[in-house]
Amino acid sequence: MPLLAIETSCDDTCAAVLDGGRILSNVISSQTVHDQYGGVVPEVDSRHHLELVAPVIASAMLDADVGIEDLEAIAVTAGPGLIGALLVGLSTAKAMAAPWQIPLIPTDHLHGHVAANFLDPDPIEPPFVCLIASGGHTLLAGVREYGGFEILGETLDDAAGEAIDKAARMLGLGFPGGPALEALATEGDPERFTFPVAMSRDPGLDFSFSGLKTALVYRCRDLGDEGVAENRADLAAGFQHAVVYQLVSKLRRTIDRDEWPLVALGGGVAANGPLRDAIAALCEERGIPLKLVPRKLCTDNAAMIGSAARFSPALAFPDYLDFDAFATGNRR
Ligand code: KG4
Ligand code: ZN
Repeated sequence: MPLLAIETSCDDTCAAVLDGGRILSNVISSQTVHDQYGGVVPEVDSRHHLELVAPVIASAMLDADVGIEDLEAIAVTAGPGLIGALLVGLSTAKAMAAPWQIPLIPTDHLHGHVAANFLDPDPIEPPFVCLIASGGHTLLAGVREYGGFEILGETLDDAAGEAIDKAARMLGLGFPGGPALEALATEGDPERFTFPVAMSRDPGLDFSFSGLKTALVYRCRDLGDEGVAENRADLAAGFQHAVVYQLVSKLRRTIDRDEWPLVALGGGVAANGPLRDAIAALCEERGIPLKLVPRKLCTDNAAMIGSAARFSPALAFPDYLDFDAFATGNRR
């Protein structure tokens, strides 16, 4: 029986219908309103989710040709994320599930990014190591079972996507900045401006991106407005190179240390072409298979939440009515 999944943890309002690992529909409405502010404004974000959540769910159910009476369960992101945004999705899921006494599956957003790799047509099986890099998180997940993962290393400050978005803003690009920075970087020379790669001598698996961001601030200050305008593409290419370099170095260290038999990716930054190419080259060099999840399943979507929900405990009616969303941490 089909499963409806709802995701509203950040600035995308998403709903999907899955039949096992098969995606029957996957609707994403990205809020563009935040562009003018240069970042997500939580209150504005929650209000937009409120307006969008019902039509997005209706559209996902229409696309999949399912009615509420057909649903086996409703999965919803319970955290981590922006609390107001999460509450919109969770309350909607409860309001839909309760009258029909449909089971509810509270799902972890990061588990969703990992579980995008379990979707048809070419699902993978644990064990594998998964690099997750998004706007809110950057971590290396050791996946030994379908139902969860172990954090092997994570960012000590900014997430990779957060640093990329701030860099894009300094270079006059819109929000979110990842795709625009990637496009601009194709015209630039990554060696013209070099940026520091943090944690490279640190033997652990943690990341740090805030120093890189500060290095760009100083570089832009030294160049002045005109200099920045003239050198935008080279700055974008150098910055992107430093982000990719750090992500790939830590992934290499993980593979060599723990001898993982398979590598996978997740999160919006995993849609980045040069990052995908660099990881593909690393895996080829080490002779390890790589699962490259399609770009549209890297960025936030509800199909990945439905995928994680298949391996998460369902709550029966009325037990879920007092289940709460969580902004940080996890409740896996
Ligand atoms: O996973 P995601 O959609 O949302 C969060 O859970 O945060 O990730 C969004 C992040 C943003 O920072 C965005 O700029 C970045 O992923 N991103 C990219 C690319 N596409 C999205 N970064 C680099 N290159 C891209 N092509
Ligand atoms: Zn995400």
